[in-house]
Amino acid sequence: MYDQPMLRDNALKDKVIIVTGGGTGLGKSMVSYFLDLGASVCIASRKIDVLEKTAEEFKEKAAGRILPVACDVRKYDEVENTINETVKKFGKVNALVNNAAGNFISPTERLSHRAFDAVVDIVLKGSYNFTLALGKYWIKDKIKGTVLSILTTYAHTGSGWVVPSACGKAGVLAMTRSLAVEWAKYGIRLNAVAPGPFPTAGAWDRLLPEPIKKDFDPANKVPVGRVGEHQELSNLCAFLVSDYSSYIDGEMIAIDGAEWLKGAGQFNNMDKVTPEMWDMLEAFAKGKK
Ligand code: HXC
Ligand code: NAP
Repeated sequence: MYDQPMLRDNALKDKVIIVTGGGTGLGKSMVSYFLDLGASVCIASRKIDVLEKTAEEFKEKAAGRILPVACDVRKYDEVENTINETVKKFGKVNALVNNAAGNFISPTERLSHRAFDAVVDIVLKGSYNFTLALGKYWIKDKIKGTVLSILTTYAHTGSGWVVPSACGKAGVLAMTRSLAVEWAKYGIRLNAVAPGPFPTAGAWDRLLPEPIKKDFDPANKVPVGRVGEHQELSNLCAFLVSDYSSYIDGEMIAIDGAEWLKGAGQFNNMDKVTPEMWDMLEAFAKGKK
């Protein structure tokens, strides 16, 4: 059920959406569903050959409704160019998905300052570049725009060994909450989702290479007992960029099978206690009275 499309037909009809990093992974899955729901979509990232291949894949179901544009989100002029190209092709922009990201797993003291910059600049600067440029355009043209940022649950918990990414994502969360209040008067909404583990080549091959994959299998950490399905994330994202979620503003919604909460609760690692051990523990505790 959770791997099935959820929204009604044409839920995104007449919407024009820019998805950064929309040529691969979770971005690509979202784009596919946005197109199914009637949207026109610009996919923007550095590798134009990857974007064009994705656009070609979707050509049959969305002829004339997908536009690949080469863009490094760290460069403001390329961001403005992407918005201009989208307006030229589709007449307007209604929504932005800040999905592009960079990340590597490493002890922080091993990173150069350039490595720190590389990740923070993609995640935080890339997101505020696009949000600022589109915000100016929406306010000037009186368009009710919406921004959805793809974060992670460690945007609010922090996480060791991915510190530049945690800093960048936390910054985007602060931007989301701040601008939701400041720009509500213009009809601009900002929300975020925090996915738990969803298999993609980009994230998983990079963050969980073969030698450590078995010992750090993320599925083992998820109370719900599985990793995420791309469609269930796409369902949530489509809802959040649609007008059906008009009263949701400034929120970050986790979709992680309770993974982050499991790490937070002090007694959350008691799965291994057997019923016999519980009997023993109860008898012991009662005997103390
Ligand atoms: C340490 C590294 C490194 C690594 C690169 N660097 N990889 N340092 N460990 N694994 C250093 C380089 O040596 C260099 O520093 C600096 O970082 C910049 O490297 P470039 O290759 O020039 O960077 P750039 O071309 O900007 O590439 C960006 C990138 C790359 C982040 C480094 O990985 C990338 O393009 N990633 C995009 C896709 C991605 O990361 N997807 C995962 C998102 S998943 P020096 O000092 O040598 O010049 C995610 C969610 C996680 O975010 C949750 C999952 C469960
Ligand atoms: P992915 O396939 O590697 O996606 C990252 C995308 O970002 C790529 O398409 C990449 O395209 C683009 N990108 C990187 N640097 C860029 C730059 N400077 N300018 C423009 N685009 C850039 O990984 P994914 O797993 O689908 O991740 C998608 C989002 O979900 C990310 O925000 C990630 O943090 C988040 N997330 C994923 C998981 C998971 O389990 N997969 C969990 C939590 C959060 P180019 O290389 O063409 O630029």
